[in-house]
Amino acid sequence: MKGKVLVTGGTGYIGSHTAVELIDHGYDVVIVDNLSNSRMDVLEGIEKITGVKPGFKKFDLCDYNLLDAFFDENQDIAAIIHFAASKAVGESVEKPLLYYRNNLQSLMNMLELMEKYKIPNLAFSSSCTVYGQPEKLPVTENSPILPAESPYGNTKQISEEIIKDTLNSNRKLNAISLRYFNPVGAHNSGAIGELPIGVPANLVPFITQTAAGLRSELSVFGDDYNTPDGTAIRDYIHVVDLAKAHVVAVERMTEQRQKAPYEVFNLGTGNGFSVLEVIKAFESSTDEKLKYKIVDRRAGDIEQVWADTTFANNELGWKAELDLPAMMSSAWKWQQHLMENRSKYLSE
Ligand code: NAD
Ligand code: WQD
Repeated sequence: MKGKVLVTGGTGYIGSHTAVELIDHGYDVVIVDNLSNSRMDVLEGIEKITGVKPGFKKFDLCDYNLLDAFFDENQDIAAIIHFAASKAVGESVEKPLLYYRNNLQSLMNMLELMEKYKIPNLAFSSSCTVYGQPEKLPVTENSPILPAESPYGNTKQISEEIIKDTLNSNRKLNAISLRYFNPVGAHNSGAIGELPIGVPANLVPFITQTAAGLRSELSVFGDDYNTPDGTAIRDYIHVVDLAKAHVVAVERMTEQRQKAPYEVFNLGTGNGFSVLEVIKAFESSTDEKLKYKIVDRRAGDIEQVWADTTFANNELGWKAELDLPAMMSSAWKWQQHLMENRSKYLSE
């Protein structure tokens, strides 16, 4: 067994897929989550895939005393992957203080207690949102950080600064910020995926719910962008590829292969796809027809972004392998699992 890894937000979408990959690579995984945006039975999904049920503790990371007590009982943690955060861009505009408190307080508690318990390694979930609409594409890790378009985006920028400043003051800490582009898809087993709480804001859950008949049609937000087909372009990355990058980041930190105490990596495929291309890929990989209409642009959306992944490819030795059809077919498989277990998911 390799070391113990704390996965905060580990019953969530990306955290659960990462827990699977960590367990498959021999790590001892312990999850902390307050279940504010996930369900306890995700643990069964992880166990179904890996044969191992990870350790789990339910509490709010903003509660310093509870986190202190947790670390006191788990002093053998080798690394932390900090996924836990509130993540809905629109909601963050409505409830900025909730976002600042949840995303920043939890991180500051974590850093303070990492110092106290001498836990040296932190991987942090950042986002391509820190780049806004870049002037030059693709975006490298050195592209300018533009003023955040939402309180959510601002929490990611501030979080990176908090981590950097803390590392500057304590040379025993190491961290890696991973800037995700657009994570989509689900584990190919169909046992874990993204949970549909409320109306999805993101494209792919909206597509799968529409194809499943839960929504009458998909609205495509704008076809007048300066792109080949007029719809906006993003770098969609399969959540399993993303999860694998976290294992590599943990190995890099625990095996002391970092070139600097603080490193930042873009995690994307390096390819941009338009909304219409995503719809076509969904239709051809699932044989489902999708009803959609073009509507106005969504406020706050950028036109196009995709990652330069050279640094992650060369330094981490990691590369996204799964293509858009694999992202779409796995997302559809997960939607079918949700439909088959509708009573369970709708009853609570
Ligand atoms: P998610 O909501 O599925 O998972 C986050 C988990 O954290 C949830 O299970 C939630 O219950 C938990 N949580 C939130 N606040 C908590 C707290 N105070 N204490 C304990 N648990 C708490 O989200 P996700 O899509 O898996 O995202 C994971 C991370 O990646 C987040 O930090 C998010 O901002 C970041 N990210 C996500 C995306 C994306 O599109 N999904 C893109 C870029 C970055
Ligand atoms: C993708 C594309 C929409 C829904 C968000 C956050 C970002 C990061 C990833 C966390 C866009 C279009 C969408 C729909 C549509 N999250 N779309 N109809 O906006 O790129 O990024 O998630 O860090 O910070 O902002 O993702 O999935 O919402 O949209 O046409 O019903 O699909 O306009 O072009 P986005 P998304």
